[in-house]
Amino acid sequence: MKKEEKKNIFIDELINKMTIEEKIGQMYESTYTNGFITGPEFENDDVIKLIKKGLVGSIIGQYDNEVIYQLQKTAVEETRLHIPLFFANDIIHGCRTIFPIPLALACTWNPKLVENCAAVAAKESRNSGVQLVFSPVADLARDPRWGRVMEGYGEDPYLASKMTRSLIRGYQGKELYNENTVAACVKHYAGYGAVSGGRDYNSVDMSLDTFYNYYLPPFMEATKNDVKMVMTSFNTFNGIPATCNSFLLRDILKKKLKFKGVVISDYTASDELIKHKVCKDEEEVAYKSIMAGLDHEMVSRSYINQLKKFSNDEKILNYINDSVRRILNLKYDLGLFDNPYLGIHIDFEKYWLLPAYLDQAYLAANESITLLENRILPLNKEDHVLFIGPFIDTKRLVGAWAGKVDHNYCKSLIEELANTNYHYDYFKGCEINSDFNTKGLEEKILKNDKIVLLLGEDQWESGENKSKTNLELSDIQYQLLDYVIKFNKPTILLIHAGRPLILSRIKKLYEERKIDAVMYNWFLGTMSSKSIIHTLYGINNPSAKLTMSFPYNVGQIPIYYNHLPTGRPKENGISDDYRTRYLDAPNDALYPFGYGLSYSKFIYKNLILKSEILEKELSFSIEVLNDSSYAGYETIEVYIECMNDIVSRPINELKNFKKLWFLPHETKVVEFVIKRNDLNYVVNSKNHIACGTYGLKVGPNSIDTIVKYFTVK
Ligand code: NOJ
Repeated sequence: MKKEEKKNIFIDELINKMTIEEKIGQMYESTYTNGFITGPEFENDDVIKLIKKGLVGSIIGQYDNEVIYQLQKTAVEETRLHIPLFFANDIIHGCRTIFPIPLALACTWNPKLVENCAAVAAKESRNSGVQLVFSPVADLARDPRWGRVMEGYGEDPYLASKMTRSLIRGYQGKELYNENTVAACVKHYAGYGAVSGGRDYNSVDMSLDTFYNYYLPPFMEATKNDVKMVMTSFNTFNGIPATCNSFLLRDILKKKLKFKGVVISDYTASDELIKHKVCKDEEEVAYKSIMAGLDHEMVSRSYINQLKKFSNDEKILNYINDSVRRILNLKYDLGLFDNPYLGIHIDFEKYWLLPAYLDQAYLAANESITLLENRILPLNKEDHVLFIGPFIDTKRLVGAWAGKVDHNYCKSLIEELANTNYHYDYFKGCEINSDFNTKGLEEKILKNDKIVLLLGEDQWESGENKSKTNLELSDIQYQLLDYVIKFNKPTILLIHAGRPLILSRIKKLYEERKIDAVMYNWFLGTMSSKSIIHTLYGINNPSAKLTMSFPYNVGQIPIYYNHLPTGRPKENGISDDYRTRYLDAPNDALYPFGYGLSYSKFIYKNLILKSEILEKELSFSIEVLNDSSYAGYETIEVYIECMNDIVSRPINELKNFKKLWFLPHETKVVEFVIKRNDLNYVVNSKNHIACGTYGLKVGPNSIDTIVKYFTVK
């Protein structure tokens, strides 16, 4: 008998044996005391009782293996049908070995590397008793005020889709029935990245075509790659909260995208339907949610308290059966019916932080560091360097949502420097927001050749519920910067942040030659410090490129590269006219999408199209020269601009990229193919490929491209 058939028979038989209460019980995900959660905590004395009655399907937020084991034992041994639980956690960029924050990982433009990171996170998670991770975060983000931009992959649907796919592949592997893989849950469906004003949990209003062309594609990619779970978002989507939005859940996800996995709510998002004022009470919450297609409630109890009432209605009963089948399918795929204790180890710590995992974290950190300005790096090992700033002695460089991190396993920059033979000294100068103190600093500055200044925001200033309206460095840090640059020493600025910060003032200082390099470090995970030092001293050649546009100031937000043209576009790239810019700032980004420097110098030339007409596909090549003595990676980016369509089209759309390793002075002819289907664009909710002229743009970022034209017939 085929595997799938065997599974169906097993699940049919099980469902036939279940009471309506037991079915609804599977639809509940509970917290358990001492869990690791981000919402309100509940008194959960009754959880054990509920498990025994078969009224709990899964548990969120447990990392204690002894507890996981006991809860599983209760479910398996003390319930009528012995159905195991599954355990789900927020593993966003690593479990114990922490990788760079997702936004930084996206800047690697290296899908294979990202997949390998997810595979490590899967192994550490599964061997900690966790079978499902609440990742990837496929929310497109155009607004750095929103603290959750750090969790996703930036502003572009093509790149975010690639990253989403890599993470799912890394987590889920080829099959889930082993100790190396976990089920993935893509979130937050849908539109969450477009919350109004960047205020977390806020409403989202967008045209359906914007949804189909930008915000939906990463989720489509997730379903194509057999993601096992989708989490609804907290926001309303065009007036209706996502958690009870049947257009999003039933029509698009389950019907159109044929998603066969489990739809889970976000934490207490069902209860919040009352606060959204679309439900008057818990009974209506249960009714609207099941009608909309929600299978599994995270923490809210509307289903276990209310759903039975509606089960005489055949339609609702069918919906309940469908949801239960999805949940049992997941448990089956995870192998839980055969071995409910798979991966639950008492000595789980021995599965964490293995040397190969740390190597992977180091590689990922190296490729995530984004060099924004440079006329001085790398440092020489003979240099006498003074490290200054609030980040020099902290181990807290991993970023928010750092799984089961133990900061003791991370080294501060100073600790890492102690392992080197470099000539260095250090001085703190201030905390992130306080304690300015320069007593003794002058003497140290005068004694050293170069200064490395580490500034930024705290790792907990980004993440859930961490929206900000001021994206500048703190006043105290500017004070420290101003103090340091007075000495006119070669100065390198390193910035830690979970989002694009406003760097206009910094760029100006660079242009005035008061700062000589700017390196954006994001938060780089467990291996942060080693990677930063190796990059400063040229052991690593930086290669990351931005996946969110950096604004000049907060007033420019939302800002994104793939915007539509206006009727008064800038001419010949010049925008010094009132029609094409703000009175007090340009329209464009300070640092554009796709931008990032390397110690190598790459020169692009000879964009050659095999044909000027695209029928099925278009092949083309570009010559890229590494005009330097540094070996390094370069990402070659390919954009299109559709020149005439029935709707106005973005000035740039990323369609392909390749990241390649170049030896010193090496030239490569890099070949690409664009297929007809890659040109698809949704207009009036329908897929469509415009015929006519397109610009093909190839280059190192979204601005500095070589352009040629082709026609689609
Ligand atoms: C709320 C967050 O929005 C979501 O991303 C997370 O997975 C859940 N809490 C569970 O912690």
